[in-house]
Amino acid sequence: MKYLLDVAFLPCEKLKDHDCRVVVDLLRASTQITTFFDAGGETLLPVSDVEEARELKALLGDDWRLMGERGGLPAPGFDLGNSPLELAAAGGIKNAVITTSNGTKAILAAACGSADVLIGCARNAEAVAWDALCRGSRIGVVAAGRDGEFSLEDSACAGLLVEKMLALAPSNGADEIELTDGAIAALAMWQRLGPDLEAISAESEHGRILCALGFRDDISFCCETDSTATVPKVSHFNGITAIVGR
Ligand code: MLT
Repeated sequence: MKYLLDVAFLPCEKLKDHDCRVVVDLLRASTQITTFFDAGGETLLPVSDVEEARELKALLGDDWRLMGERGGLPAPGFDLGNSPLELAAAGGIKNAVITTSNGTKAILAAACGSADVLIGCARNAEAVAWDALCRGSRIGVVAAGRDGEFSLEDSACAGLLVEKMLALAPSNGADEIELTDGAIAALAMWQRLGPDLEAISAESEHGRILCALGFRDDISFCCETDSTATVPKVSHFNGITAIVGR
């Protein structure tokens, strides 16, 4: 079996025809989403803007919470921001509408088309790499980026996922693995700058903003590699795009 491993550094790139896409927003949306399910969550509805999130929550009622950020801080009136440590401490949230500056938009962009879409981060790196390999032979990792620009920590994490998939693919029947230019570049970046993902992330533009906002501990949490087997997946809830934990 021949695998094709691809990386898109921004969700607005012309995405190839993948069987499965893994969306990575290391700081912090994809870590937040993974933590939501680790903490017992059942359904997340990703939307692109704050007003849409409020309207959807009003429609769905009191069993639903509002989560997300703008500028790294909780959007006004939201129950929670985008800090996975705060989410883990809050616990007990079953259903929520989530909107973040880049992560939820990347998920919605990756979900256009027929590919299966998984949420990847460092915490579920090995688990998501294996899950993706089991879903088809053309795998794309889509980095969320930041406001339409390249993001160092998402791209390094994409390289980590390519490294994991290269290591695991032979156990899933691979006898040939082709890397696209994007995958070669992400892997090279990871091999050159890694393996200290936390140092890369803390030095990145978004990492520095999160530190200035007082979220330094979130960066450590986001960079704990292979600490969960949870792999969130894009699905549907009453005809709208949803994320479920299994
Ligand atoms: C995003 O979607 O850009 C992020 O997750 C932002 C953040 O958590 O600060």
